[in-house]
Amino acid sequence: MMALLSPWACILISCFSASLAEESNLSDLYPPLWEESPGQFSEYTVENGKYIINPWIYPQRMGMYKILLKQTARYFEKFGPENENNILWGLPLQHGWQYNSGRLADPSKRTDCGYDSGDRLCISTDSWWADLNYFLCALPFLAAVDSGIMGISPEQVTLLPPPKGQMKFCVNVSTCQSSFPEAMRKWNTFYKHVQIPYSSFEDLLKYLWDAHTKTLAGVKTIFDDSFEYYSKPESNFERSWFLSVDYIAVLQFPTTLTKVYEFQKSLPPRLLVNGDMAPFISDFSTNQNIVLLSLNVIREVHTWTGSLSFKIWKILMKTPAAREQLLKFLEMILQNSNPTF
Ligand SMILES: *[C@@H]1O[C@H](CO)[C@@H](O)[C@H](O)[C@H]1NC(C)=O
Ligand SMILES: *[C@@H]1O[C@H](CO)[C@@H](O)[C@H](O)[C@H]1NC(C)=O
Repeated sequence: MMALLSPWACILISCFSASLAEESNLSDLYPPLWEESPGQFSEYTVENGKYIINPWIYPQRMGMYKILLKQTARYFEKFGPENENNILWGLPLQHGWQYNSGRLADPSKRTDCGYDSGDRLCISTDSWWADLNYFLCALPFLAAVDSGIMGISPEQVTLLPPPKGQMKFCVNVSTCQSSFPEAMRKWNTFYKHVQIPYSSFEDLLKYLWDAHTKTLAGVKTIFDDSFEYYSKPESNFERSWFLSVDYIAVLQFPTTLTKVYEFQKSLPPRLLVNGDMAPFISDFSTNQNIVLLSLNVIREVHTWTGSLSFKIWKILMKTPAAREQLLKFLEMILQNSNPTF
C-alpha cells in the first residue's frame, strides 16, 4: 500500500509545503492576463443578438472563466472572502499554467501560433493541452449558461470553431449537450448544488470532480493523434497527467485559488524535451522533479497492476474518515514545516 500512497504523499506534501505567507494580495495569484481578459459578456463581439467568443485566443478563453468565476462568486461567499474558496479556480489556473509553460503553442511548429516570436495569444488546435482544456472550459461555461446563473440564455452565446478539426468541438449549449450529454448533465448537477444554500464545501467538491472526470472521460482518446508532436518525456507526462487526474479527483483535492496556485508551482514550468528525466532535471526545482516523477510512477503502477491500483485507491478513499485523515495528516505536516502559515 505504501508504494501506492507515497507518490501522493509526495505530491501533496510538496505542494503544501511552500509558504503561503508571502502572498498577502490574492490578485497576485490570478492566472496570466486575468486583468486584461473580458469580465462580462458585453466585452465580446455581438452578432445577430449572439455573443461571439473565440476560445482559440487566450484572453477570450480566459474571459469565459473570468465571467464564470464572477457569476458564481456569490455562492462561495459563505466559504470565505474575495472568492478565494470558489472551487472553480482550478480551471483557469490550470489554463494559466498551460499558457505560461508554453503548452498552448503549436507543438508541430508548423505555425507561429502561441510562440513569443509569433502570435503569443494564439491557442493551437494541435496542442493536446489546449484541446483537452477546451472541454474543461466550454462545458462548464455552457452548462452554467444553461443553468441560468450567467445572466444570459443559451441562444445568446456561441463559440467560434477552430480553424481545423471543427467536428471534434461543440460550440453552443445544444451541440455540447448532444455530443457530451453525460458531462453536461454532471456540470448541471454541480451548478444545481452550487445554488443550494446549505450545500457543504465537501459536497460541492464531490460534484465538481465528478463533472471534471466525466468531461475528460468523454474526450479520452480523441486527441491521442497529437502525441506524435511531442517529445517522449512530454507525451508520457501528458498520459500521466490524464490518468492522475482520476486519482486527484478521488482525493477530492480542494481546488481553491490558494491551494491550486501552490500546487502548480510544482508542475513542469516548460515543455519537456528529450533527455529530461525526473528527478534529474537540472532547471526544475526539487518539488517539480518530485511531482513529475510521482505522476509517472502513478501511471506506471496503474499500468502494471492493470488499474488495480486505482480500484484500491478508490476503496481506501471511499471512507470519508480515511480521506479526511490523509488530508489532515498532510495539513499537519504543512503546519509543522511552515510555522508562519
Ligand atoms: C491587490 O492588488 C490589486 C492589483 O494590483 C490592487 O488593486 C489592490 O489594491 C491590492 N490589494 C491590497 C489589499 O493590497
Ligand atoms: C448551435 O450550433 C449548431 C452548429 O453550428 C447550429 O446548427 C445551431 O443552430 C446552434 N444552435 C443555437 C441555439 O445557436
